[in-house]
Amino acid sequence: MTVDSKNVVNLNLKKEEKNLNFSDFQKQNIKFDIVKLQEAYTQIIQTKKFDDGGGISHFGAICLTRKPGDPESVKGSKARGLYWTKPDKSGKEVSRDVNIVEEEYSEFIPDYENTYFKEVFDILSSKYKLGRVRILLKEPRSTLSWHRDPEPRLHIPIITNPGCLMVIDNVAKHMPADGSVWITNNTKYHNAFNGGEENRIHLVACVLDYKFN
Ligand SMILES: [Fe+2]
Repeated sequence: MTVDSKNVVNLNLKKEEKNLNFSDFQKQNIKFDIVKLQEAYTQIIQTKKFDDGGGISHFGAICLTRKPGDPESVKGSKARGLYWTKPDKSGKEVSRDVNIVEEEYSEFIPDYENTYFKEVFDILSSKYKLGRVRILLKEPRSTLSWHRDPEPRLHIPIITNPGCLMVIDNVAKHMPADGSVWITNNTKYHNAFNGGEENRIHLVACVLDYKFN
């Protein structure tokens, strides 16, 4: 029996399936020095280990901001924070982890004051109302959960590879490590994966005053 390909391939795509819409990935009108960002990253990992966010595999976080004077505010599940996910075939949404009062993470951690991240933080916080600012690690050949967060996120890729993509709803995008700054709509369901063979490192900040429509 022969199969006519016209019968098995449905080309009647809906309009939104034909035209990808990248409006949930918004490149900002600001750029940092990628060499200095990479040097600052190398500098901090000499003395600081990634927190695994309370036992999350292939994930790591180093917080650059904390509650003033409170080293405990950046450890374990507080390095991760509240999110919602649909973990099983029921499609039912559940919440995970602890609620974070992002506004309280106002102090840039003194240990990192002599790095380029301080300059980056000062410039970003003059333009946006920020919560936690973290350096996030995504290990090779790994993914996050399919989840949504309480607020948008600002991303500055520091080390990446072509196999690192963020997926928001049904749209995937690679953000290059060239000093660019992105704000992504993490209030929609999303994921990020690293399909390469090297770590992916992003600076990620919670943004409290940025609205997607
Ligand atoms: Fe997220």
